[in-house]
Amino acid sequence: MMMNFAYLFATVGLIQGLKFMGDPARAKTGNMLAAASVVLALVAVVVATGWAGSTHVLLLVGLLTVGTLIGKTWSSRVAMTAMPQLVSIFNALGGACAVVLSLNEVYGAGTPVDNKLLGGVLILTALFGGTAFTGSMVAYLKLDGRKLPRPAQIHKVLARLLLAVLAAIVAYYFAMPTDASTYPTVLLAIAIAALAYGIFLTLPIGGADMPVLISLLNALTGVATLMAGLLFHDPVMIIGGILVGATGILLTLQMCTAMNRSLGGVLAGKIISAKSTQSEVEQDIRSITAVETASLLAFSKQVAVVPGYGMAVSQAQRECFALQEMLKGTSVDLHFIIHPVAGRMPGHMNVLLAEANIPYESVLEMTAVNDTMEHYDTVLVIGANDVVNPAAENDAESPIYGMPIIRAYKAKQVVVMKRSMAKGYSGVVNTLFDRQNCKVLFGDAKESLAAIITELKRI
Ligand code: TAP
Repeated sequence: MMMNFAYLFATVGLIQGLKFMGDPARAKTGNMLAAASVVLALVAVVVATGWAGSTHVLLLVGLLTVGTLIGKTWSSRVAMTAMPQLVSIFNALGGACAVVLSLNEVYGAGTPVDNKLLGGVLILTALFGGTAFTGSMVAYLKLDGRKLPRPAQIHKVLARLLLAVLAAIVAYYFAMPTDASTYPTVLLAIAIAALAYGIFLTLPIGGADMPVLISLLNALTGVATLMAGLLFHDPVMIIGGILVGATGILLTLQMCTAMNRSLGGVLAGKIISAKSTQSEVEQDIRSITAVETASLLAFSKQVAVVPGYGMAVSQAQRECFALQEMLKGTSVDLHFIIHPVAGRMPGHMNVLLAEANIPYESVLEMTAVNDTMEHYDTVLVIGANDVVNPAAENDAESPIYGMPIIRAYKAKQVVVMKRSMAKGYSGVVNTLFDRQNCKVLFGDAKESLAAIITELKRI
């Protein structure tokens, strides 16, 4: 009875903690509440299993301490721009845990698997966990800009082949009578094929499809945790798994809608054509100075800021706030427009702007303003590239074709802040720079914004 209450409190705490995390002002409390709930659940497990006072507890506490220290040190040292990579690694670890648990049940604990229910749960744990583990590791390497084999047709072929193999093994297992002697081989084959599938599923995916895949991998880890929870009859693990799995699937579907992609299309992958990634050196670029940008702003009535990954790299969010404060007393009306996949993780820009105390009322969703972009006198694109690339609307050959973009090109003037002519994440030429109304303000976004603010003070 006591244990059930402990599980109930832990579960409610976990759900409430996750709910708080959706609100920047209560996110920290939510994080602490969720962590405390997990600790409560662990204590309940120790008591319920009768481990109290045994060497198991020492091992558990020792491992928890080591894990907490590594996690804490890592999280506090990581740069804000590397946060998506860290999230990918944590997700990968969840997947790895699930595969190890399922293999350990058979190969370590030697549990004879003589019924379809237990066998099925172990198979699904290895399947989802294995895919999430290697898929998230490849996603980590991609997000970190590491050298990986170029996306190729063969990766897609291998991914589909492995998916067919996995489906065939699962079908074989459920169709045949249960045989405890062959089960370990079946499970091992599933684990190996799932690990390979994660790699070839993720390798060919790039550009606009990456955010969808990342949320799908999160969902897979959630489902793997749910399966592991069923295995150990652990209610907190089951509920945690359901929450992560369900929210991950909902986020994946939302991402698909936001990116105008079908899940099947994303999983099938798209190979980038050489034409769409040609050098931007051939483009006719018009540059602008910080002083000129400041006077452009001073003479504008409606101004929009479109932040992107470069704002996170430069950590220019506080300068954005300073610019907003600077223009407050004037006749200039300033909005921030957020693209759903700007940056490298869902909500990346919202978090940074909230951290800089930019009021929510001035932050608009892309869909709210995209049809009226021509009303803006000036759009300041701060370190965004792919999310304002008109090729997504008018170049059917482009890998980002079909992805909704913020139609900055429709504004009277566009100023793009960037350091060089380097491309965005998708590696695609940005045709915005060819437009007559577009100018590039070269330099680090934070420094450029500081120079603009200094000049505005002077005007
Ligand atoms: P990107 O297209 O990646 O462009 C970032 C731009 O910032 C680049 O043009 C870069 O040019 C510039 N930049 C970098 N550091 C800068 C600095 N210090 N100062 C000024 N500019 C700087 O970013 P985006 O428009 O936000 O698009 C996001 C992309 O990431 C999309 O393709 C999306 O699919 C992908 N993605 C998103 C997610 C999620 S969930 N959000 C996850 C994975 C992938 P320079 O180097 O020349 O300065």
